[in-house]
Amino acid sequence: MGRNRSISSKVEQFCQRFDLRVPVLLGPMAGVPAPPLSISVIQAGGLGSCGAVLMTPEQMHDWAETIRAATNGPFQMNLWVPDPEPTRNPEQENRLRLFLSQFGPEPPTEAGDTRPPDFQMQCQALLAMQPPVVSSVMGLFPDHFVKSLKAAGIAWIATVTTVSEAVLAEEAGADAIVAQGMEAGGHRGAFDAQQAEKRMVGLCSLVSAVVDAVNVPVIAAGGIADGRGVAAALILGASAVQIGTGFLRSPEAQIPQAWSSALASTAPEDTVVSRVFSGRAGRSLETEYVKAATAPGAPEAAPYPVQRGLTAEMRSQANSLGQLVGMQAWAGQSARLAQARPATEIVNSIWNDARELLNFDR
Ligand SMILES: Cc1cc2nc3c(=O)[nH]c(=O)nc-3n(C[C@H](O)[C@H](O)[C@H](O)COP(=O)(O)O)c2cc1C
Repeated sequence: MGRNRSISSKVEQFCQRFDLRVPVLLGPMAGVPAPPLSISVIQAGGLGSCGAVLMTPEQMHDWAETIRAATNGPFQMNLWVPDPEPTRNPEQENRLRLFLSQFGPEPPTEAGDTRPPDFQMQCQALLAMQPPVVSSVMGLFPDHFVKSLKAAGIAWIATVTTVSEAVLAEEAGADAIVAQGMEAGGHRGAFDAQQAEKRMVGLCSLVSAVVDAVNVPVIAAGGIADGRGVAAALILGASAVQIGTGFLRSPEAQIPQAWSSALASTAPEDTVVSRVFSGRAGRSLETEYVKAATAPGAPEAAPYPVQRGLTAEMRSQANSLGQLVGMQAWAGQSARLAQARPATEIVNSIWNDARELLNFDR
């Protein structure tokens, strides 16, 4: 009981700090911006979120306004810290274009030139729109931006995948840390793209070690999608959890039906980490494209964001045809726990189950 009281007061403190009733954060999900999903999670007492890496400042602004028009609750806006300029290899890109044409239209010659919207402009946009929380992934925010965030009273949550990244994040001024275990769906948030597959730390080891290494609150992410996962993460020392895949089947997420249905029958070992969609390592369903692109003899993926540009047409055609084969069907290892019900109900049921397991009154 004493132990549970210390867990509940930690959770309570976190909820007060971030203006939450429930210690559940919707994972920022680039490509799944769906404001209704955030609104539902906020209405259940959790934190809404926007994965804004691919959004222009105007789109970010519109997203935040939509949320603010529907609710007063808290949300995070998430940005990717850019990688160094990629080294281009035209021969490899030609091989990739040919390979990709088996799964969609042949990518145009200039497909690999596409870049996400400018990071500096996105940072400026965040300062102008003043979200309660911003989060980083793939690295740390530059010092001057961190100072501006602090001056504006905006909290910074940094995503990490290792203990050493967590220590750097705390030193850089992060107010809280998302510890992303290797179970997580979507891109791995490793600071160094080259280390993303080498340093694959499971959530159990990562959360305990990060909690021991830093003084700021730790949010557990990766493979959590039910009350058991939440309770386990809080016992390991996390103050809250962040869930991505567990919300993908809710109607508000509006993902293609083929992706949503496949999640329901996906065993943990059916998801794989590869670079074949964007050039950055990410965990997805093992579709026919992923199988072929990771098979021996397949052309090696180009670096981020070149590969993202090269696969754009295949992904967009797959989405419009509703065909899983070429979709960027991100999925964490607990995909089968994702529930096809409104996000508010998902938050409520997960948190009620966790509270029961932990003997909380709250
Ligand atoms: C479709 C999808 C897109 C994602 N995009 C981002 C992103 O843009 N930024 C980010 O920090 N994390 C991103 N993530 C990771 C989630 O925010 C979260 O940490 C992760 O989903 C937790 O693991 P789970 O999927 O097992 O719940 C994404 C995850 C998914 C499934």
